[in-house]
Amino acid sequence: EMAAVDALVDAARGDGVSEAVASSRTEPWPNDPYAAGSGVGERYASLRALLTGELNTDEVVATLSASGLRGMGGAGFPTGKKWELVAGTDDPVKYAICNADESEPGTFKDRQILADQPHLVLEGLLLGMAVVGAEQGYVFIRHEYGPEERVLRAEIDALRAAGVVGPDACGSGRRLDLEIFVSPGGYILGEETALLECMEGHRGEPRNKPPFPGNYGLHGRPTLINSVETFADVPVILQRGAQWWGEQGLGDSVGWKFFAVSGHVENPGVYCVPMGTTVRALIDLAGGVQDGKAVGAVQPGGASSNFIGPDQLDLALDFGTLAEAGTMLGSGALVVLAEGTDLLAAATNVLRFFRNESCGKCVPCRAGSTKAHTLLAGKSTLDDEQRSHVLRLEEAMRKTSICGLGQVALGPVVSVLGLDKGGAAARPQPRPNGAKEQPDR
Ligand code: NAI
Ligand code: SF4
Repeated sequence: EMAAVDALVDAARGDGVSEAVASSRTEPWPNDPYAAGSGVGERYASLRALLTGELNTDEVVATLSASGLRGMGGAGFPTGKKWELVAGTDDPVKYAICNADESEPGTFKDRQILADQPHLVLEGLLLGMAVVGAEQGYVFIRHEYGPEERVLRAEIDALRAAGVVGPDACGSGRRLDLEIFVSPGGYILGEETALLECMEGHRGEPRNKPPFPGNYGLHGRPTLINSVETFADVPVILQRGAQWWGEQGLGDSVGWKFFAVSGHVENPGVYCVPMGTTVRALIDLAGGVQDGKAVGAVQPGGASSNFIGPDQLDLALDFGTLAEAGTMLGSGALVVLAEGTDLLAAATNVLRFFRNESCGKCVPCRAGSTKAHTLLAGKSTLDDEQRSHVLRLEEAMRKTSICGLGQVALGPVVSVLGLDKGGAAARPQPRPNGAKEQPDR
């Protein structure tokens, strides 16, 4: 059982499949505003409009805010607000970074977007640079994403050749340039401030926040950081309009959403569905549970998200609905476990991943994850004393760890203990709301 769960997590993490993603798609994804097969000349229309003065920065920010776009890296911070904050900082040197270091177990949708829609990712990043006032932009990419890195480099070469980027971007007299920074490897480097430390040549450990990178980022300069999917959504919204984006979602939800579906489903892979699609509908799209079995539990937002039970499959996949249900949309990775799977073993395996990836900067995360793993390893049930020990460790780690890793490491375990008791997930998802409980430092 444990070996099967290990294999599941390793497969979901992308181990051993480094050459697997090439763009095999012939159909465009439903969000793409540009015609299939069009080149640099036809694409990048919003960027050209901004650089030639047809569109101004205030309009871009207003459209993003009106669209309701939120950060797709996991935390869901309003994108228009972030762009406005960085644009409003007063510094002659600023940067923009696309975080392409997705490493959350079960998460591989950014990889597909990079392979299939590099033009949208780079146009979003360039728009961000132009709006906030940055000349230099970076894509910080996971080192296992070699094929996608090559796709990006080819696209950047085409942009340089066409004069879209360079010393006189689109003939605007402004310099806009792009560089790829390959992550040296390590889950924690996807945390935005660890990423900045790494790019500055330091040990990849998270900084205390605030200050947020928007004020104090790379080399202490205001830095706009968004993830791959967030940047890719920007030109879609600018081309098709905030209203169109709003109409794509189901119910109160807005826009399209990419999900990586893995675990015990017939057809694991990347799916692009309207935001607000139910968990059940997405599992059906992925061919249903393997061998016709019933769902045992689901993590809707990657390894950091709390498990939900089979009675919660009609939940809409959206930030608010999932947060209210005690879990989160997170990094858009739906991990499905069939009935009969040892859920505590699966959650303990997730904890083992976090224990291994803890950077060790703060004691509660470093010591707590080790202690909890020692306590849980090999167990399928806990007695009352063990259970309360786990709950105390979870609370200490959630309240005192400085970054998301330590704050969520025991969340999935605790959620499984709640499911064991026959209820919905035991307690509110510690992130991102948990962070707000902490005093400013
Ligand atoms: P966070 O809530 O601290 O920040 C989210 C974003 O908003 C950051 O860019 C931050 O700089 C910005 N922000 C927040 N408050 C701000 C303020 N007052 N002023 C200006 N900017 C502000 O969350 P964090 O720790 O960056 O991300 C946590 C999420 O990451 C989790 O929800 C998890 O789902 C996700 N995650 C994703 C992974 C992946 O592979 N995609 C891996 C691990 C976690
Ligand atoms: Fe490092 Fe864990 Fe502290 Fe995050 S919570 S800074 S991963 S020790």
